Amino acid sequence: MKRIAVLTSGGDAPGMNAAIRAVTRCAIAKGWEVFGVHQGYAGLINGDFRQLTARSVGGIIQLGGTMLGSARAPEFKNEEGRMKALWELGQKEIEAVVIIGGNGSQTGAYAFSQMGFSVVGVASTIDNDLVGSDITIGVDTAMNIALEALDRLKTTAASHQRAFLLEVMGRNCGYLALEVGIAGGAEAILIPEIETNPEEVVQIFRRAYERGKTHACAVVAEGASYNAEKLAAYFSEHQARIGYELRTTTLGHVQRGGEPTAYDRLLASRLGAGAVDALDRGETGVLVGMVKSQVTTTPLSKVVGVQKPIDPTLFQLAKVLDT
Ligand code: F6P
Repeated sequence: MKRIAVLTSGGDAPGMNAAIRAVTRCAIAKGWEVFGVHQGYAGLINGDFRQLTARSVGGIIQLGGTMLGSARAPEFKNEEGRMKALWELGQKEIEAVVIIGGNGSQTGAYAFSQMGFSVVGVASTIDNDLVGSDITIGVDTAMNIALEALDRLKTTAASHQRAFLLEVMGRNCGYLALEVGIAGGAEAILIPEIETNPEEVVQIFRRAYERGKTHACAVVAEGASYNAEKLAAYFSEHQARIGYELRTTTLGHVQRGGEPTAYDRLLASRLGAGAVDALDRGETGVLVGMVKSQVTTTPLSKVVGVQKPIDPTLFQLAKVLDT
C-alpha cells in the first residue's frame, strides 16, 4: 500500500480539479491511499491534509478553481519550511506528493525532491511558460476567454471607430497574447519576448485607419515592455496621428475563472493519470507534461529556471495576416 498526497499551488488554472480527480482515482485504482493537501505548500507545512476518496472528487471535473485551494507560500522557499513539510508528511506516513502547478510551484517541487522526498509535478498554469509541456492545464480555457473578449471588443470598437488595447495575463510569457492575437485578428501584438517600439503600433493603427478599417485592436501581454498602461500613456500624446479614439481593457483574473474547456479537462485527466503512472514506475523529481501529444516526464532540473521560447514564425504570421 502506497500513501500519496496531492496539492495545487500558485495561481489556479481551470482544469486543476480534473487533475486532482484523475490523480485520486488512478491512485485508488492501484490500491493506494490519497490525501488532499489544502492551500498548496502552506497546507503541507501546516499538516492540513484530508483523505480523498473516489466519491469526494466526484462532481468536480467541470468546475473551475481548485477544490483543494491554492496559495503562494514564501515559507516553502526556505529549508526550515520544507523540513516542517517533511515532518508532517512523515507523521501521516505519506511516501510521495503530486504538485499541480506552474513555474514557482515546480521550483518548490524541485527543491523538495532534492531533499530526498518523492515528488512528481503536473504542468498547470494559464501562462504556458513551463518547459516540458507543449501546453499546460488552463491555457486553452484562458485563451478562449481572452478570445471572446477580443471578439466582443471588436464589435463595439467598430461601432465607434475606436482602437482598443486588450491586456492579457501570462506573467513573463507572451504565449497567450500571441495566440489570442492571431485567432482574433488583432492589428498588433505586444509580447515580452520581442521588443516592440510603441511608435510601430501608432503606425500600424494609423495605416489601418487610412485603409478604412472601422477599428483596430492590439493584444498586449502584461509582461511586455510596453504594457497596456504604458502604451495608452504614449498613445495619449499621439492621438491626432492615430485617427481612432482609444480605449483600454485589462482582462485580469477573468481569464483564470470559470469552467474548464473540454480540452483542459482531457489534458488534466491525462496528466493526472500520468503522474500516478510516473510514481508507480518509481520516478521522482520530474514534471509530467504533454509533448507532441504524448504524456511525458521531464526532469525538474531541466524545467526550473529555463525560459520557454515562443515560436517566432507565429509572430511573423500575425504580421502577414494583418493586411
Ligand atoms: O501565473 C498565473 C498568473 O495568472 C499570471 O498570468 C499573473 O501574472 C499572475 O498569476 C497573477 O497572480 P495573482 O493571482 O497572485 O494576482
